[in-house]
Amino acid sequence: MPIWHIRPYETVDYAATVRLLEEVRSTPGGPPINLTDTVLALRHEGPDAESPAVVAVAGEHIVGAAVGRKEGGQGRVLTVAIAPAWRHHGIGSGLLQSVENQLLHAGCRRITTLITPGQTDEEAFLHRGFAATGQVLYDKEIPLRPADVSTVERWGGALLSTSEWSNLAGMTEERALIEQRLLLPVRERELAEAYGVVIPTAMLLFGPPGTGKTSFARAVAARLEWPFVELLPSRLASGAAGLASELRSAIHDLMGVERVVVFIDEVDEIAQSRETRPENQSVVNELLKAIPAFRGVAGRLLICATNAVSALDPAFVRPGRFDLVLPVGPPDATGRRVLLAGLLERVANKDEIDLDAVVAATDLFTPADLSAVVQRSAAAAFHRAADGARSTVGVATIGVGSRDETGAAGQSGEAGKPGSDAAGPHGGAFAATTPLRTEDLLEAARAARPTISLTELDRFRRDAQTFTRI
Ligand SMILES: Nc1ncnc2c1ncn2[C@@H]1O[C@H](COP(=O)(O)OP(=O)(O)O)[C@@H](O)[C@H]1O
Ligand SMILES: [Mg+2]
Repeated sequence: MPIWHIRPYETVDYAATVRLLEEVRSTPGGPPINLTDTVLALRHEGPDAESPAVVAVAGEHIVGAAVGRKEGGQGRVLTVAIAPAWRHHGIGSGLLQSVENQLLHAGCRRITTLITPGQTDEEAFLHRGFAATGQVLYDKEIPLRPADVSTVERWGGALLSTSEWSNLAGMTEERALIEQRLLLPVRERELAEAYGVVIPTAMLLFGPPGTGKTSFARAVAARLEWPFVELLPSRLASGAAGLASELRSAIHDLMGVERVVVFIDEVDEIAQSRETRPENQSVVNELLKAIPAFRGVAGRLLICATNAVSALDPAFVRPGRFDLVLPVGPPDATGRRVLLAGLLERVANKDEIDLDAVVAATDLFTPADLSAVVQRSAAAAFHRAADGARSTVGVATIGVGSRDETGAAGQSGEAGKPGSDAAGPHGGAFAATTPLRTEDLLEAARAARPTISLTELDRFRRDAQTFTRI
């Protein structure tokens, strides 16, 4: 996988950045870079909060750059330039996200840019939520008031990338439910209100560990484009009394933010039945008070998640508290297929893998279990290749997570025979291919134990019947 990262522009980057801008400008279909404007912005005593500049770096090379400026209270993206060989790697969106963030910190809520439709980096702007307002003027309103930034950040929150929603594999029913019950009425608030539709403000997710509750909560915030704040009971304060008052002040503060998703994971830790854990009384009360607070104002969503819904204080799960109570179980065969395909995305020989066999061998596996299986089998293939390379007779390369840069793909006929005499051109280097095999995945699946046992699955299904509310 190509390795790149984004960092602030520094004055020493000047020459390399200008060279990149020149190269991009002369590429057909490239963005209309106003070199004078951009170069002036870069020269101007280096970037500051009101003229942010960032670069994307791969190895020693600057492969992307973006420059913005605050002008009369609004933000403007002057340039996003990506080296032609590095397009379609997500660099444009990454650069934009970084510039947007800095402009937001400088107090800009609306950001505009000039684009020729069809130009190479238009995709990055669309991906980041910019919309055309004319032929060439695109703009975007950041879904967070500049004044709310510090409150959200004080509680460790942030705006998430919308890709967290699109990258969520499977969960089609849950996603459809969120679209219908949450997004549509939020978007069509007046119409929804006219029909007396109540917009959900509190949601409880329950299910065994590793099934994707946290990922789902984040994805919902990403889809809404509301900032996501996770309140971690363990980090809020020690002792029940301290925790209750910290919760109160967090909720109070966050209620001042225009729109926000507040997430409390493993809520059973702090909201266990007051009978079994009397010391939790004050915390449970605080949480119970928080729910109506969310209901009072538009633009707030509280999401709680738990592995142990039946251990929660009964008052907590009573009707009238959570509008939606959703079970999140292990993925079915279709879900596993999508998850596995995603996890194997970067494997060079992914088309040779018998996905159906792996899907069949991973019943009850959670997304987290599947990820571990793929990692373990990748490691097995890697070690096989490394052992082959170390032996003096045979040489092998891995086919996992890296493109075959040796040009020795023709030797993949030796797959599965490490130590065979297919000596490659670079003695001691990985030169032939021992790709990841279906058998590696099956073996890793056999060796792994799914997190969820049949007994637990049984309990989960019973809980789903008792507690689900949609
Ligand atoms: N639907 C999904 N699509 C892709 N990855 C997922 C999905 N659900 C879970 N994962 C991955 O599985 C792991 C565990 O998910 P997580 O959300 O932490 O589970 P939970 O909160 O239920 O314990 C994470 O690495 C997450 O990225
Ligand atoms: Mg979690």
